[in-house]
Amino acid sequence: MISCVLKNDKYEITVPCLTYGTANFERHDNDETYFSFMDKYIELGGTCIDTARVYCDWVEGGSDASESVIGRWLEARGCRDKVLISTKGGHHDRETGESRLDRASLEYDLSRSLECLKTDYVDIYFLHRDDPHIPVEEIMPILDDFYRQGRIHFIGVSNWTTARIEEANRYAAENGLEPIRISQINYSLAHASTDILGDHTLVCMDTREFSWYRKHHFPVMAFSPQAKGFFAKFAKGDAATNLPESQFASTANLARLARVKQLCQQTGTPPAVVPLGYLNSQPFFVSSVFAVTKLWQMEENMAAQDLVYDEKTLAFLDNRI
Ligand SMILES: NC(=O)c1ccc[n+]([C@@H]2O[C@H](COP(=O)([O-])OP(=O)(O)OC[C@H]3O[C@@H](n4cnc5c(N)ncnc54)[C@H](OP(=O)(O)O)[C@@H]3O)[C@@H](O)[C@H]2O)c1
Repeated sequence: MISCVLKNDKYEITVPCLTYGTANFERHDNDETYFSFMDKYIELGGTCIDTARVYCDWVEGGSDASESVIGRWLEARGCRDKVLISTKGGHHDRETGESRLDRASLEYDLSRSLECLKTDYVDIYFLHRDDPHIPVEEIMPILDDFYRQGRIHFIGVSNWTTARIEEANRYAAENGLEPIRISQINYSLAHASTDILGDHTLVCMDTREFSWYRKHHFPVMAFSPQAKGFFAKFAKGDAATNLPESQFASTANLARLARVKQLCQQTGTPPAVVPLGYLNSQPFFVSSVFAVTKLWQMEENMAAQDLVYDEKTLAFLDNRI
């Protein structure tokens, strides 16, 4: 599996290019299905599972669901030391929109995450959103304390611009604090924007952000790497216009889809695998945080773990040649 080593003064981890995302672990009473997905992911060489404090608080009775399912699975399989867990805290209050990047809220979120995950540390701890009104001088010492306590091993941020990451890491360097080591944003061969996704608290990869990641070789975890199945479903012609993947059906992305279909015909690669190979081939490390709802999708996606495209194929897929 293509991977990247993250290292700091205390810890070292190897992040795989395919991370299993569990935002859809919606039900408490469905362990059998979710356990089978995680078992299959591990069996096929997977080593990192992504979750968040707020998954799945949008369904009735779903609060804590994702972290709790993972916690029960880690306990049942006794495999905590073999799996990296990334989780996220500090999501703003969904009802009021109020920011929750203060010490009390982050302390509450991390404690609950550890409790639900039935562990005493998180390998990568992400702030789920940013609030640019809060100075990095207030945020970084809190994360550094969590790190020094051994409760989090690496600091990540999700939906932060690279300008804010740079500011936070400058402050961390000047003050001897543990810096941000990895970033999680929306990134796919099917380009998106916060307008398209209807959520201005997200950050999507764009030309400016890309240049910064390339210049700094800064590791990225890409969420929605398959554009919610846009390529796989549109290629088969079974996408419905009211489903999540249809939001990616812009003219530019439909042109990329035509290229994906062409490449699939030439190589026999399934269309779901191509966008993962595309992200594996970027000039900085990308771990695709993909989700599945069927076991066969897990098997298909894991076939991308060693897939790399050359520059010409990347340019072709991107519609640049
Ligand atoms: N940090 C953040 O703010 C943030 C935001 C969003 C997501 N995330 C993370 O990213 C993860 C993935 O997000 P996502 O669900 O948007 O990602 P995605 O991987 O782009 O889309 C997942 C969907 O693609 C379809 N799919 C997957 N494999 C397929 C295959 N082989 N063939 C056909 N269709 C396939 C499935 O759709 P069907 O179910 O319709 O079959 C699946 O539910 C989440 O679970 C979460 O961990 C993070």
